[in-house]
Amino acid sequence: MSDTLELHATDKTSRYRELLPQLGSLVEGEPDLVANLANLSAALMHGIEAASWAGFYILRDGELVLGPFQGKVACVRIGLGRGVCGTAAAERRTLVVRDVLEFPGHIACDPDSRSEIVVPLVRGGQLLGVLDVDSRHPAAFDEVDAAHLADVAALVARLSW
Ligand code: SME
Repeated sequence: MSDTLELHATDKTSRYRELLPQLGSLVEGEPDLVANLANLSAALMHGIEAASWAGFYILRDGELVLGPFQGKVACVRIGLGRGVCGTAAAERRTLVVRDVLEFPGHIACDPDSRSEIVVPLVRGGQLLGVLDVDSRHPAAFDEVDAAHLADVAALVARLSW
């Protein structure tokens, strides 16, 4: 694995293109899930310039439980269908929330969070958890993030769980 990130691009698409292969290198050959999710959340936090929180919730016994992340302390358990994370998980679709104040039931871990993207982690039709990225900027995330974070989610789903 490589232990430093090389990120130079300032436009979002190019930056994701730089970041994605490096995420693959970070987890290559490492079977420990916690270590891999910890490093991926650090790399996402560093790589996504608008991010104020980046990390994972893992499905355990029918609810989402906080996994490795970077950012402020967060709520530990989220029921399926609750908040942005639980809704994305229940519906198994990416949610791009341009204004968290407008999302009914949004769970405010960080009161300064303004926008959020949540991508479900699914393998062979089975829900594993979600990838969540928050920003203190309004409307920080769009289809560019959704497309590239879908690739990150696919990488995460291929890890050993
Ligand atoms: N805002 C999320 C909760 C998790 S934190 O953002 C880290 C939600 O509404 O599900």
